[in-house]
Amino acid sequence: MGKDVIIACDFSSKEDCLNFLKKFKDESLFLKIGMELFYATGPSIVKEIKDMGHKVFLDLKLHDIPNTVMKSMKVLSSIGADMTNVHAGGTIKMMQGALKGLESENKQRPLLIAVTQLTSTDQESMQKDLLINSPIEDVVAHYALNTKKAGLDGVVCSPLEVEKIKSVCGKDFITVTPGIRFADGEVGDQARIATPANAKKWGSDYIVVGRPITQAEDPVKAYKQCVSDFVD
Ligand code: C5P
Repeated sequence: MGKDVIIACDFSSKEDCLNFLKKFKDESLFLKIGMELFYATGPSIVKEIKDMGHKVFLDLKLHDIPNTVMKSMKVLSSIGADMTNVHAGGTIKMMQGALKGLESENKQRPLLIAVTQLTSTDQESMQKDLLINSPIEDVVAHYALNTKKAGLDGVVCSPLEVEKIKSVCGKDFITVTPGIRFADGEVGDQARIATPANAKKWGSDYIVVGRPITQAEDPVKAYKQCVSDFVD
């Protein structure tokens, strides 16, 4: 499995997204389509981006009763994404439902990963808002183990948690890490952050980078910086 930089295409229209992608000329990218773009454009955006030669991580973070998630994943399996996800907080049974839904079409399925705790959540908000009192690293490791038990391929987590997750779930268990910021960059609403170089050092498999690339003065340069710090 190769390391890669995934660009979070958090745009509210197809036009904004395609204008952004034009800057990259013939480069073949791994792009994350999240709720904002997917809800604005509908499922056809996935095929359109795949037809341009890019890979797609469809980040819809499903979280519902097992049957609903299973049936929704069955529908999503025909869209053609390379990676998709659910919330591990939906329980092992829900994650098993997601996998069953994706596999039911008998085609090569996308990678299925689970969000542990959002990288915008910190210890204090987890305790106060969610009434979860264990240390956040333990909660994340526990959710990761549940994800593995359910048969999924890996988790979305902070780069700060990769070493622990790999030690608990094994080195082949995939870690996809948002919360990436350059050393001198704006943090915004993220809480558990790291630089691309540290994400590499700690063993992350994919970094997900949104605003540090999409809002940069020169997005191509920022992307190349991520690739050279994380992949090369
Ligand atoms: O702009 P920024 O680099 O913070 O974007 C991070 C992206 O990763 C966003 O699209 C966000 O929805 C997503 N994400 C996250 N934390 C998670 C899961 C997904 O930030 N745990």
